[in-house]
Amino acid sequence: MQTRHFISLLDLSPQELNQIVQRAIELKNNRDYNYQPLKGRVLGMIFEKSSTRTRISFEAGMAQFGGHAIFLSPRDTQLGRGEPLEDSAKVISSMVDCIMLRTHAHTTITTFAEHSSVPVINGLTDLLHPCQLLADMQTYFEYRGDIQGKKVTWVGDGNNMCHSYINAARAFDFTLTIACPQGYEPDPGILEHAGNRISIVPNPLEACENSDLVVTDVWASMGQEEEQQKRVQAFKEYQVTSETMAQANKGAVFMHCLPAHRGEEVSAEVIDGPQSVVFAEAENRLHAQKALLEFLLT
Ligand code: CP
Ligand code: NVA
Repeated sequence: MQTRHFISLLDLSPQELNQIVQRAIELKNNRDYNYQPLKGRVLGMIFEKSSTRTRISFEAGMAQFGGHAIFLSPRDTQLGRGEPLEDSAKVISSMVDCIMLRTHAHTTITTFAEHSSVPVINGLTDLLHPCQLLADMQTYFEYRGDIQGKKVTWVGDGNNMCHSYINAARAFDFTLTIACPQGYEPDPGILEHAGNRISIVPNPLEACENSDLVVTDVWASMGQEEEQQKRVQAFKEYQVTSETMAQANKGAVFMHCLPAHRGEEVSAEVIDGPQSVVFAEAENRLHAQKALLEFLLT
């Protein structure tokens, strides 16, 4: 059987993605630590960037399923000393059952996957963050039901999270309006295949009109720290505030993958307010990734 990877949401069919989201809800509602489908199985986790949620959710998820996770940082492995990616992928995949990789260039994970004999999961690259979208879709479903046909608004940088929202719009069949400053638009290659579900509306207030879900993310992602000052200037009109949320539908929810910067991309009033579901969203990383691991490994 061909090894299935999860590098992009588009690696799975819409039906498989929906199945994983429903399974995540089920696992969350019926916690049973005697259910150990991954007993004796090992997940290798390679982090070339920092993480709180991704690391803890994968590690806890493997433990709860009876398996084990190994944290690998380039600082402590030969990867950091220049061992070829291809060799590392062959060696690591010969000893573990699944590999999660968080890295910079997207080509690092595609090359790694080509040489891995076990499933490779994208724990974030500069281009995509698909695991976060499983959790976001689960969270929307829990609070508001099916997202099919709903209007989602992305406010801010056309970054890895925005790209995964574009892919999610295709897979889960919702419309996505993106409000971003000029020069910070999403990758045209990702937009190209998403068709007329996606529109770019530079004004964030206008973009949020009649929206069912408003999402934002940091202005400077990991690896862009030196652009922080320039970005604060470029994005200053793009903070999600109560005024922004007032444009959306009454029942709209607010999401952010976290970590957040209150007073930059979102006001404290919104992220700590009644429409925000960010902490359920964060917790759902655990349940959604358990469902993903179960799907890929059993
Ligand atoms: N949202 C997210 O991926 O968080 P971490 O960077 O803490 O893993
Ligand atoms: N866009 C952010 C997401 C962090 C989870 C980054 O890449 O740093």
